[in-house]
Amino acid sequence: MKAAWMVATLMSGLMLSTGASAAKVYQVGTDAAYAPFESVNEKKEIVGFDMDVLNAVAAKAGIQVKFVNTPWEGIFATLANGERDIVISAVTITPERKQTMDFSDPYFEAKQLIAVGANSKLTKFSELKTKKVGVQTGTTGDEVVQKLLGKTNPNIKRFESTPLALKELLSGGVDAVVADNGVVINFIANNKDSKLKTIDDNSFAKEYYGIAVKKGNKELLDKLNKGLAAIKADGSYDKIHQKYFGK
Ligand code: ARG
Repeated sequence: MKAAWMVATLMSGLMLSTGASAAKVYQVGTDAAYAPFESVNEKKEIVGFDMDVLNAVAAKAGIQVKFVNTPWEGIFATLANGERDIVISAVTITPERKQTMDFSDPYFEAKQLIAVGANSKLTKFSELKTKKVGVQTGTTGDEVVQKLLGKTNPNIKRFESTPLALKELLSGGVDAVVADNGVVINFIANNKDSKLKTIDDNSFAKEYYGIAVKKGNKELLDKLNKGLAAIKADGSYDKIHQKYFGK
């Protein structure tokens, strides 16, 4: 026992003196059920547009990051309580969210998009007022639907993830789903025989995704913004964008 303890003490002393103690690895929260932005592949790796962007940013900023699959509900609380240092999860920068966390410069433009069954007669957002609408809890999709239907309207069906809401649409449990355009388009493309179509409504405002950190963590935020600026300037951002969204 004693010998083992001595070896351990010696080794940690050695690691310190050789500078081999590990550099900080920033823990990154992401709700990886949101392809093409973040999803889990067959090898159980977290992959997607957001991962490529943050990995490229981290390389420029000289920091190390580790992605940790984190449920959307409560994801922002993990910044405040220190469980995560960074959240990248297709998060829309909103004035309310800015009060409780800090955001990087925008890195992606998005919009809400409505998904309905291929035979649906619905043509615009206002017609959803009397319909059953599926959303992912606490997303900007949830927010716009709340504005139309009323916050406590039982016709708003809230799901833990956006794919779950879309599956409910496929099984006829809701009449429509409102979610980020990129994710709706990706879901339909990957479920070719799913018989869904989309409705674009010009009442939806433009949204911008940002990388979130704990409120006041200026040091980390500055690094992320510098990294973002660098990948935008040298063309690597455009390459990543093209890889996922084409030209
Ligand atoms: N952009 C929307 C929002 O910020 C939805 C994001 C959901 N992201 C996710 N990985 N589930 O509310």
